[in-house]
Amino acid sequence: MSILGKAVLLEEPGTPAVVRDITIDDPGRDEVLIRVVASGVCHTDLTVKMLNGNGMSFPIVLGHEGAGIVEKVGEGVTHLVPGDAVVIAYRAPCEKCPACLRGDPRRCYMALRPGPRIKRASDGAACSQVLRCGTFATHTVVHAKAAIKMPVEMPLDKACLIACGVVTGVGAALNTTPVARGSRVAVIGCGGVGLNVIQGAKIAGAKQIIAVDVNPVKLGWAKDFGATDVVNARDGDPVAAVRALTEDGWDGGVEYAFEATGIPMCTEQAVKMLAYGGTATTIGFPAQTDSVNLNLGDMATGVYWNKASVRVCHCGDTLPSLDFPMLADLYLKGQLNLDQMVTRKITLDQVEEAFHEMETGDVIRSVIVL
Ligand SMILES: NC(=O)c1ccc[n+]([C@@H]2O[C@H](COP(=O)([O-])OP(=O)(O)OC[C@H]3O[C@@H](n4cnc5c(N)ncnc54)[C@H](O)[C@@H]3O)[C@@H](O)[C@H]2O)c1
Ligand SMILES: [Zn+2]
Ligand SMILES: [Zn+2]
Repeated sequence: MSILGKAVLLEEPGTPAVVRDITIDDPGRDEVLIRVVASGVCHTDLTVKMLNGNGMSFPIVLGHEGAGIVEKVGEGVTHLVPGDAVVIAYRAPCEKCPACLRGDPRRCYMALRPGPRIKRASDGAACSQVLRCGTFATHTVVHAKAAIKMPVEMPLDKACLIACGVVTGVGAALNTTPVARGSRVAVIGCGGVGLNVIQGAKIAGAKQIIAVDVNPVKLGWAKDFGATDVVNARDGDPVAAVRALTEDGWDGGVEYAFEATGIPMCTEQAVKMLAYGGTATTIGFPAQTDSVNLNLGDMATGVYWNKASVRVCHCGDTLPSLDFPMLADLYLKGQLNLDQMVTRKITLDQVEEAFHEMETGDVIRSVIVL
């Protein structure tokens, strides 16, 4: 039996996100129906809108940083019961791809997805769900293995942030490119993701964490999250600034540089600010035509002579069943800052405002609370 709900939909390319009535079917085999309690607004939702759905079919339910309460479980689901509090993972390992089969689920090629259970009420059109989640909604249906149980004491308006911004940022520094104790790190872009790369580098024991942004407010917050130095990229070349801050008699540079802006130029900067043998990690979501120009032969900063590596982070290379409870535990012990990430609580009909604030305002995360 289907139920009625509401969701924030992208209905066609180039139009604003709107709240619409939806129907939600019962969960199928290995699926769960979740009543969403809170959802963070991540830059990727805005990117999906700006890229006209990025290949998904319309209408699209936005949102992929959600937490809620299990309302119904489908056939075959034994690890969850109605009433359980969960965070929704958008990368639950598929268990079938080459990476999963060789026992490396953090590098899973794809992810488990639910069947088409959400329909637009007005015409019955089946809705796509951003990153298989669709959390800007009163209810959603996801694969049961993508619903990760939270401890009862974990507040869901903070827990939701674990699903993307936190696990991506912390995971970039712990899983994608494990930061070595005592090393030097630069983080370009201090939004919801970048601030969590800073937290991850701090947890890993980096001795110097240099935050780079163009917004002085973000740089102030970066210090609260663990940055030891800050660089405003508007004040001059951030590569030169990072090299000066790390000068060690060998031209300086960091062992690890992370890009968390979605701007291709920032990935080039990350590569150029590396010390010999360092690793740059790109996190931002690219448009199809985005490319970077990596010099090989420059004696000081060329990829060949500087022996630089480049990695890509997808969702912090997470294994959600292990990482999400670990991150909740760190929060409950006071070792992970989630409270300061919630700069604004909003309702479903304020998503467009949240997008606008993300581009112009001093906000880490707007969190939709239902
Ligand atoms: N790879 C993944 O798994 C993954 C997961 C989540 C988000 N993302 C992507 O990561 C990026 C960051 O997401 P977010 O939610 O933190 O976005 P955000 O908008 O909260 O943060 C972006 C930050 O970059 C800063 N910035 C802009 N131009 C800059 C420049 N030239 N130099 C330095 N800083 C600059 C902004 O001031 C802002 O603080 C987006 O592209 C998003 O789509 C990727
Ligand atoms: Zn996201
Ligand atoms: Zn897989």
